[in-house]
Order: sequence, then C-alpha cells, then structure tokens
Amino acid sequence: MSETKVYPVDTEFASQSWVDNDTYLSMYEKSITDPEGFWGEHGRRIEWMKPYTRVKNTSFDPHNVDIRWYEDGTLNASVSCLDRHLESRGDQVAIIWEGDDPSEDENITYRDLYERVCKFANALKAQGAKKGDVITLYMPMIPEAAVAMLACARIGAVHSIVFGGFSPDALAARVEGGQSNIVITADQSLRGGKAVPLKDNVDLALKNAGTECCKKVVVVKRTGGDIAWDDSRDVWYEEIVADASTECAPEEMGAEDPLFILYTSGSTGQPKGLKHTTGGYMVYASMTHQYAFDYKDGDIYWCTADVGWVTGHSYIVYGPLANGATSLMFEGVPSYPDNSRFGRVIEKHKVNQFYTAPTAIRALMQQGEDVLGDSDLSTLKVLGSVGEPINPEAWEWYHRIIGQGRCPIVDTWWQTETGGMMIMPLPGATAAKPGSATRPFFGVQPALVDNEGNILEGATDGNLVITDSWPGQGRSIWGDHDRFVQTYFSTFKGYYTTGDGARRDEDGYYWITGRVDDVINVSGHRMGTAEVESALVAHPKVAEAAVVGYPHDIKGQGIYVYVTLQAGIEESDELLKELRTWVRSEIGPIATPDLVQFAPGLPKTRSGKIMRRILRKVAEDDFGSLGDTSTLADPTVVDDLINNRQNRK
Ligand code: WT7
Repeated sequence: MSETKVYPVDTEFASQSWVDNDTYLSMYEKSITDPEGFWGEHGRRIEWMKPYTRVKNTSFDPHNVDIRWYEDGTLNASVSCLDRHLESRGDQVAIIWEGDDPSEDENITYRDLYERVCKFANALKAQGAKKGDVITLYMPMIPEAAVAMLACARIGAVHSIVFGGFSPDALAARVEGGQSNIVITADQSLRGGKAVPLKDNVDLALKNAGTECCKKVVVVKRTGGDIAWDDSRDVWYEEIVADASTECAPEEMGAEDPLFILYTSGSTGQPKGLKHTTGGYMVYASMTHQYAFDYKDGDIYWCTADVGWVTGHSYIVYGPLANGATSLMFEGVPSYPDNSRFGRVIEKHKVNQFYTAPTAIRALMQQGEDVLGDSDLSTLKVLGSVGEPINPEAWEWYHRIIGQGRCPIVDTWWQTETGGMMIMPLPGATAAKPGSATRPFFGVQPALVDNEGNILEGATDGNLVITDSWPGQGRSIWGDHDRFVQTYFSTFKGYYTTGDGARRDEDGYYWITGRVDDVINVSGHRMGTAEVESALVAHPKVAEAAVVGYPHDIKGQGIYVYVTLQAGIEESDELLKELRTWVRSEIGPIATPDLVQFAPGLPKTRSGKIMRRILRKVAEDDFGSLGDTSTLADPTVVDDLINNRQNRK
C-alpha cells in the first residue's frame, strides 16, 4: 500500500480554534473516564425547563437494551433553537434560503423564524394536532420545512420526514408506520428547474390501504402548479397561518420524549423508523456541530443535505440553530443552472463552513478544475464530508480546488442511528489523512471486533462497534423495540453494531471500509438490497431477483440487479428499461438500478441460499476470484452469469 499523506493541523488555525490537540486529548479522556461529569457539564449547553439531576442511564445488554440520558430533565427543543436567541440575536439571520432559481433567496432572522414557528404551531393545534401525534413531512427544501419541524417540536408532536424523492408507496408505508394523522407537503417541489408533484404523490399515497389514519393534509404553495383538492382533508398552509398568533407556549417535554422518527434502510425487510428523543439528541447535535466545524458566532454555515435525511435534521436545523448559527438551506442541485452553482452560492452568501457528500465532489471533479468558474471561495474556513467513504483522490481535489489548499477537511462518519457525528477530525486538533475519518468524538468508544465478537487490539481490520452509549444515539425502532435489539445489539453482544467495517492504523485512526451487511450506499443514500429485490419480484414478469452493489465512479456504489424471468417471458431491451422504471416508481429515483442483467439461474447453495459473494464479484467484473463454487447446487449458472455480464450493454 502506498504511504498515506498526512496533513498536519495549521498552528494558527489551532491557536484560535475551540479545541487544539491537547484539549482534544484531555476532553476525550474525561469523557470516557467520567461520562457523568463530562455530559453533566456539557448538557447545560442547551436550554432546560427543569434541570436534570441524572445524566446517563444506559444498557446495551441484549436482554434489556435501555438508553436514557438526562432522563429527569424537561425541555422543548424549539426553545433552544429559537426563544433563547431572541434577546441576544433576534435580528441575526437564522436561515439563508437559496432557491433552485438563483434569483430567488430569502433571509430569515431568528425573530422571523420564531414568529413563523409559533404561528404554524398554533395553526397545527387548530387543525387538531396535539402532543404525541406523529406528523409526516414530505417537503421541498424551503424554509417552511424547518418551520414545520420546529412547530412540531414546539407542540410536542413527533415529526417523521420522508425525503421528497420517495415514491407514493414508500410515503404510504411511512405514514402507516407512524400512524400519522397529519401530512405536511407542498403543491410541488422544484429541483434543477423541474417540478416534482409532491401533492399528487401524497394523494396517491393516501389512497393506499392503511393510511386512513391521516385526516389532514397541509399544503404549502411553492410553485402554484395544478393540483387536485379534497375539501374535507386538504388545507393551505398560507390560509391556516394567516391569523394565527405569533406566540405559542412551548410544550414541556421529558428528555426522553421522542423528537422525531426517521426511516432508514437495513439489510433485511422494509425500512425501519429510528426513534430519536429530545434531550441527549439536542446536546449531541449542537456540540458536534460546534466542534467539528469550529463554528464561531457570525459564521455562515452551509450543509447541502436535504432535510429528508438525518444530516439535514442534525446539521441544517437542530445543531446549527441551537448554536445560534446562520444556516444556509439550498433548494436546488449542484448542476443547475450550471456546474458552478456551489461556487456561486459560496461566493454570494460568503459561506465559511461547507458540508457536502463525496458523490457531489466526484461529480464536480469530473467537470474539470475550473468547474466553479471564477467564484470567490476565500471566505471558506472548514470543509466537511459525509455519507460514504471519501476516496483519497476526491479528498485531495476537495482540499486543493474548493479548499484552495488551506481549509481543513472534516470527514465525518456517522449514521441515522447515531444522531450525530461519531468519528471525525476536529479541525484545530487532528492531523488529517485523506480517506480516514480519524478519531472518535468525545464520549464515543469505537472498537473493532472479529466475526465472533472478540475485541481486536492495535492496527487491524474488523467490524466496527461502539461499546457504550452517547447522548445522540437512537433509542429504538418506532413500534418495534425487539427489532432494534435484534438489529443492533444481538450480533456482537454488549455492543452497538454499526454494520460498517473499518481498519485502524498505527496512529489509532479509523478508516471506514464500507458496509459489511446487505446495505448499499448509492450517492450517500442508504439502500437495502432486500427492498429493491422485493420491488422487483412484485413485477408480474419477474420470478426472482438479487441485488448487489458494485463500484461506481461518481455514486460510490451503483445498483446491480440480476433478474430471473417467469417461464415463457422473453428477454428484451424494452423489458430491461421497464424494470428500471418499475423500481424507480416503486421506491423512488434514488433506487433506480444502474445495471440490470437477466440471469436464467442464480447461484444458490443446495439449501437454496443465494450466494451474494459470487454475484458481487461478477458485478465487479472480477471473475478471477470467485472463490469456492463447489457448494453450489448448479455450478454452471456461474458461467452463464459471466457470459451475460460480458455481453451486457
Ligand atoms: C452509513 C450511514 C451520516 C449521515 C448520512 C448517512 C456510511 C456515512 C461516512 C463517512 C465512510 C460513511 C456508512 C454508514 N457513511 N458517513 N464519513 N465515511 N462511510 O447516513 O443513511 O444512515 O448511512 O453511511 O456506511 O453506516 P445513513
């Protein structure tokens, strides 16, 4: 292996940063040896109504997984994000909104945001919403998305955001899963100049069996496009907030009351709704945001994620707003009106911290070094990466072209389940190695275990686990605690299983190598292979399907599909196209297969288990190392697979 380059911390940067290396080491030490003391102190960074006296009460014992932080404290998340800032920074911009069309933007101060949230909170109550309700959001990236999240928090309702790129069926499953009584959406969303029919999708979703729980649909007018209307169910956002009061007393919530549900894909079955609670999550999201980006008062911070993913929850809304930050929210895409858009937005709003995904960096990289045109990037101080492993070439390009060789890069490893960043450099403390997420955040105890669950020491490869709880951790799967225990705590007993593999080097740095389960990561989006397979076998012409990931230059991983057709159905190019469109409409555009291959037979063991290892190798075009195929029921299927792979268009 080639020697890794090390980028030391800039001493000047370190001297003015929140945390230098010595501070990191001593704070980390304290967080591990005295978690009660450490988190007891840092818990006070957010606003409490009734202060907590208990800090940590957590168990990873598979017979009794129970995670509680600050359990006797009470608070309301929206108070930390809004009320506490009114006096000190009411006129400071809380959200800079940059529209899909570069001529559209808006600055929303903390006072404006407070009033909008209170108005909408009151309006929701008038529509019958109350504490404990699950409210589904299916929204464009517009300020009303943040307003809706905070309004739910304000009245003690639990939001469940469904990414606006998901299909009506995927939306229906999530409305049903949360027994949601209200859906908040918009007429249409706008991305890259194209309208996406959000309200039409909601109408379709609510026709599905099981979604009768939903009684109200609140619709924000975004484009004014044509939509159908059901008077008994639909209300315009603009109408219900018009006369609502700008004051709404925040509901007093327990630290362990749920703040939100967020669905994410796993290796088996349908997506699961991770349950995040209020106190620990807010402490953790705000603290990681401050330290990872070295965020200082007055900085302009931009995270390019969508609020439909956990990154948007923790690092567009809750973390930054709890810190009194100015958070930029972008409705569009990096390639519209042209590929220089990211640079133009950084220049226009004088962005100081920029947080994006490797897939976006690789897409820009393909366009050449002058892709951002003559955009002025001199305001940038720290760059972040999230969602998938960043390959060293992309890291170097990010550093050189966007960071102009001067901005530290924080490669942040975490998951929907972890609530906030877990392993990442702190820009004033940690020397970077391109491709490594480096060291754990305070309170995080990563370990590598072998397949039997034995802890491995020193420089080695293994399954990445976390040995003790941290405040931002997801507490359960909504409505199915057994599945939570089964998925995360039963493989390696006593530890939280991440599903990722990692390597630890001689300096104790972690290098995430990717999922070790049947989850694939497409452009930073998590996709369960089982989900795509079940969509495929629902097609009348498909008998069987197997889905694997394969290396893709821009997306990180692409979706590779093997399909066995029903007897008598002819293979054709039209059918290949039809199957791609089918998956797209069943799940959403992010699940569109990149390559589909007809497979008259799939490699199975004599007991009928599909050998995915072989399918992965074939998809990777790596026929030399298929391994042992002698246990296959019919070893000749492998030759067919290889031939078809080579003939694939
Ligand atoms: C999975 C979690 C974290 C919020 C966005 C994705 C992969 C995430 C990194 C990184 C290597 C990463 C992991 C993880 N991942 N960040 N910096 N380096 N891999 O959240 O959808 O829950 O996906 O994304 O495989 O398990 P998610």
